[in-house]
Amino acid sequence: MPEPAWAEGYVVDIGYTHGYYRELAPSALRFVTLLGGVRSPDPAAPFVYYELGCGNGHSTALHAAANPSGNFYGVDFNPMHIHHARRLAQYGGIGNAHFLETSFAELVEADLPEADMVVMHGVHSWISRENRAHIVEFLRRRLKPGGLVHVSYNCLPGLAQVAPLQRLLMEHAHLSGGALPERVRGALDFARRFEQTGAHYFAANPLAKARLAHLGGQDPTYLAHEYFNANWSPSYHADVARELAAAKLSYVGSAVIMDNFDQFVLKPEVTEMLAGIGDRTLAETLRDYARNQVFRRDVFARGAPRADAAELEATLSGTCFALLRPRPLCRLTGKTPLGEVTLRTEAYAPVLDALARAPMTLAELLSAPETAALDRVHTRQAVFGLAALGNLAVALPAAGEAERRAATDRYNAAILARPAAHPGGTMLASPVLGCGVPASLIDLLLLADTGGEDGAAERVMDALAAGGHKLQKDGKALEDRDELRILVEARTRSFHAAQLPFLRLAGVTG
Ligand SMILES: C[S@@+](CC[C@H](N)C(=O)[O-])C[C@H]1O[C@@H](n2cnc3c(N)ncnc32)[C@H](O)[C@@H]1O
Repeated sequence: MPEPAWAEGYVVDIGYTHGYYRELAPSALRFVTLLGGVRSPDPAAPFVYYELGCGNGHSTALHAAANPSGNFYGVDFNPMHIHHARRLAQYGGIGNAHFLETSFAELVEADLPEADMVVMHGVHSWISRENRAHIVEFLRRRLKPGGLVHVSYNCLPGLAQVAPLQRLLMEHAHLSGGALPERVRGALDFARRFEQTGAHYFAANPLAKARLAHLGGQDPTYLAHEYFNANWSPSYHADVARELAAAKLSYVGSAVIMDNFDQFVLKPEVTEMLAGIGDRTLAETLRDYARNQVFRRDVFARGAPRADAAELEATLSGTCFALLRPRPLCRLTGKTPLGEVTLRTEAYAPVLDALARAPMTLAELLSAPETAALDRVHTRQAVFGLAALGNLAVALPAAGEAERRAATDRYNAAILARPAAHPGGTMLASPVLGCGVPASLIDLLLLADTGGEDGAAERVMDALAAGGHKLQKDGKALEDRDELRILVEARTRSFHAAQLPFLRLAGVTG
């Protein structure tokens, strides 16, 4: 069936996946401004936030719940998505999220408040040049001076080899009949068989061959949106930076915290060569060549007002940090584009230990007993290194937590009222972090269980059986009740030892 005219080539007969993206949180954007040396928005001030192409609305809804001082607008032209997003907001008792069934063209003319933050994830590379121009025009008209923009996109040079594969899939899907999921399967099957014939394209472009092999295991809904849109245009960072310059935006940094630290992502000789390049746009684009980058998550600011060193230090001192995962699960070793990095225990663990007690500002961390052996420079370095490995993040100020907590409690209660609706787990809203924290189905069942620790594992097993949910062990569904009991008891113990204290710290539960 052809896409309707309003869809402008975008896939609309399959709803988008139900993803949540923490890097779109207002607190995450603030962190990038701190790292980029740009003046940070006041976390205590009210703000207006837009998510363009919000899909089913999970990120906007959760961020609205965790940031009640913000006014959130989720924009998407697909009524199926907006319908879902509005129900989510309604169930979650969220009054500060507004979901608009509006196209980017219509958005330009809509009478809406000026924006402090505009985010778009998974949008830029999949829409037409005209629609990108509408977004730029919206930013030009509506983004406040100093306002922030998050834009993620497929990027070049990393996807240069893959572009002809996308075209092949798309052309094949165009010609075959049937519903989109069948056409997706048909096109993938054809491409695989074609590759087997020894077609030179695949031999000459090993990244395309690897990508095709990888596609087989992915969710068809995701694949339909990722590869089967009429528009699929990976961009050089330089082109995105120039496009957004029309709305007076300048690049601030990456929403992937690690990517802001050359020592984690670039070889020293590359860093040295790039240091000689005065132009930020070119330097940033060359970093993508150095890494053969395939995807970027950029943060831009309008006017990008620079903070001087004293202002930056003062802002940093007053910025609150909190753990993103249970202390026992925090990692000092992590993967980087260069291989693996291991942070020194004696320099980094004290910061984790302090934050396992309570979220703290950098100033509070400096006077915490755990960090007594660290000076300011090392404490700051530890905070950044730990953030790069995903152990901690910028949190919201302690003031205002009670108001936030009332909103996140409503949102989380709606999720916990139907834990079985989330067989793969979901995100709960944290009033401390201002973003979502993951919870597995077992975590949800245990949080929803009011019977105390005794017999909790048995009740979880009953709930799993009632919902027809099977737990997996070594990739296989567990059928044997004794084996299941052993697994559920182990998970219940680890929930009480690690996950529950963390969820309390994050303000998700009492
Ligand atoms: C790949 S999805 C990303 C959804 C969401 N940001 C996420 O990451 O889960 C892109 C979204 O943009 C929406 N979209 C595409 N073209 C649009 C347009 N011209 N106007 C408004 N929304 C559009 C689609 O309906 C879809 O929900």
